[in-house]
Amino acid sequence: MKNILLIGCGHMGSALLTSWIDSKQYHITLIDPLKINFLNKKYKKIKKIKIVQTISKIENASKFHFIVIAVRPIDLTNVLKELSKIKFNKKTSLVSVVAGKKINIYRKYFSNISNYFRVMPNMPASIGESMNCIVFNKEANSSKKKDIFKLFSLSGRSIFLKNENEIDMTTAISGSGPGFIFNLIDAMEKAAIRLGFKQQTARILVLETFKGSINLFSKSKMTAQQLVNTVATKGGTTEAGLKIMKKNKIHKIFVDLTNASYKKAKHQGSINGKK
Ligand SMILES: NC(=O)c1ccc[n+]([C@@H]2O[C@H](COP(=O)([O-])OP(=O)(O)OC[C@H]3O[C@@H](n4cnc5c(N)ncnc54)[C@H](OP(=O)(O)O)[C@@H]3O)[C@@H](O)[C@H]2O)c1
Repeated sequence: MKNILLIGCGHMGSALLTSWIDSKQYHITLIDPLKINFLNKKYKKIKKIKIVQTISKIENASKFHFIVIAVRPIDLTNVLKELSKIKFNKKTSLVSVVAGKKINIYRKYFSNISNYFRVMPNMPASIGESMNCIVFNKEANSSKKKDIFKLFSLSGRSIFLKNENEIDMTTAISGSGPGFIFNLIDAMEKAAIRLGFKQQTARILVLETFKGSINLFSKSKMTAQQLVNTVATKGGTTEAGLKIMKKNKIHKIFVDLTNASYKKAKHQGSINGKK
């Protein structure tokens, strides 16, 4: 049974953790200093989980097959400084889900680790429906690539990307995407309430509309734009609403917001002066 060291059990770390626990295939050591009481309470009955207070208290470090880093970019330097004091096994794979931070940053801290991965998951990982995009360093060994693919596929669909620029690009699409989608859902719910529906009804109407549209899109051979045309009867109600979307430049809004997110991911590689 393989061993995972998970550093950072916030939104993303715990979303991934859920699928790894469910699989019963891994021993997992968790570190998140300020959440230690919460973690102890939540996972005390699960034998395969061990909670350690801080990185400096890690024991038997050579047993870890994967170190998964899921802290905020701003906390990364501290975490790497602490981790670099520990002697890990040279077969250990270091995996980071931290947005923007390049593999070269991690390499500087470890002399005996040769397999580095950057993964961009998303929040639906918490229900096993993540979109995981994976890149690795040139030296990464093919059996380690398979191991990482298997590990992340437990939380959803996984694909390998060509390079780190693509990881920054996907951060703006699938990584941040759920945030954009939830904002659209929120806008539609609030519009339904404004028309006069109660919150509970608005939620059902909007949820089923998003679900049905996504399922139709996934089962259809048409493009999204072709599907728009099937709904928008000439001179009809949908067309009246679509005119407002066009006037407010919905496509441009999405170009702008994904560009902003992509630029942020690219810039993140240089914050704290750690390129
Ligand atoms: N959220 C997403 O949808 C998403 C998607 C893709 C990728 N990511 C990436 O995932 C990473 C985490 O994001 P998040 O949304 O999960 O943030 P988060 O909820 O703030 O979680 C980060 C966790 O790391 C903990 N932490 C800070 N310093 C630590 C240390 N030295 N040792 C161990 N744990 C430490 C934090 O504890 P405190 O709160 O006590 O400081 C917090 O619980 C980010 O780098 C982000 O780019 C997030």
